[in-house]
Amino acid sequence: MTTDSVENIAEIKRNASSPIILGIESSCDETAAAIVRGDHTILSNVIASSSAIHAKHGGVVPEIAARAHLDTLAPVIEESLKEAGVTWSQIDGIAATGGPGLIGGVLVGTVAAKAMAQFHDLPYFAINHLEGHALTARLTDKVAFPYLLLLVSGGHTQILLVKDVGNYERLGTTMDDAAGELFDKGAKVLGLGYPGGPAIERSALAGNAKAISLPRPLKGADHCHFSFSGLKTALAQAYDKYGDQFEISDYAASLQSAIADCLYDRVKKAISKSFENHEFAQKPVLVVAGGVAANQAISRRLHSLCADYDVGLAVPPAKLCTDNAAMIAWAGVEYYRRNMPSSLDFAPRPRWPLDDKASPPPGRGVRQ
Ligand code: KG4
Ligand code: ZN
Repeated sequence: MTTDSVENIAEIKRNASSPIILGIESSCDETAAAIVRGDHTILSNVIASSSAIHAKHGGVVPEIAARAHLDTLAPVIEESLKEAGVTWSQIDGIAATGGPGLIGGVLVGTVAAKAMAQFHDLPYFAINHLEGHALTARLTDKVAFPYLLLLVSGGHTQILLVKDVGNYERLGTTMDDAAGELFDKGAKVLGLGYPGGPAIERSALAGNAKAISLPRPLKGADHCHFSFSGLKTALAQAYDKYGDQFEISDYAASLQSAIADCLYDRVKKAISKSFENHEFAQKPVLVVAGGVAANQAISRRLHSLCADYDVGLAVPPAKLCTDNAAMIAWAGVEYYRRNMPSSLDFAPRPRWPLDDKASPPPGRGVRQ
């Protein structure tokens, strides 16, 4: 987040105790606009996805995604205003994802937000997409700082201590693939299509999670990092070896169960470490965010973990876990309240870690 005070920043109207913020999300294949009020009300939440086009290619094609954002963003914003029943004169600020993500899409959203902010003389907020996910539970469940965060999306799998807005300590990250990436790659191996997470979850409902024996990488390790690439290889090898001997749903259920076990084990380690370090004065809360948090089997596992350790759990509703603009608008509310607008000089950031001081985990191919 850039917070330099430069002349082209519109003054924040400090009289607005419950600001109305327009949020824009365009970092992957969802073009989204939402209007959120500071009293935790989502006035509108419009999402247009180009995922059906990408499905034909087995994954997101950045150029197609950027073109789709260009075509779709203006009508999506208009729709969000109409659905919310607000006019431009009622909007207090504009927040847009400034990274990390596919640079073409982030550019489209950023340029649009800056232009509208200048035209309507409104403050502009460049939001870290990951922070949008991280703060969603404050919009939906009013969770207080500090809290533990399991951020599980298509590009990231991290455990963070969220101390305040813009203040994160990364406790663990993946050494290779993200959990969402494993769902997507696993679905490709099993011919279940893209996006893989929802397809695996649906298929797994009819499957036997104990049918295929898959590893639980790093289970019991004395740190909070993840590794998922071995699990992808193990699934592909099992599928090559056993083929039709098992139903696709058995492979899907076994993979989902292995991922859930890995998340359970690493979060368990993070909870005990934060207890040892006395990070929480009151009952700690675990927040789960990002697209993979939409998975019911995973949230059930984390539910039982939190019950065992007397830790609170907040998982936003599925449509606010996957990419959306309400989370970006809410992050805008948080920055608005702290009087921290961004400079119109902000340059989109394809990589933008929440904790840029975190040291890399052991191993190669480190994801920030
Ligand atoms: O947060 P998100 O919408 O986009 C990113 O910022 O990456 O996360 C997308 C990821 C994809 O990998 C998708 O397969 C996964 O979230 N996902 C799921 C589910 N819904 C989405 N994974 C497991 N179960 C789901 N129900
Ligand atoms: Zn996301």
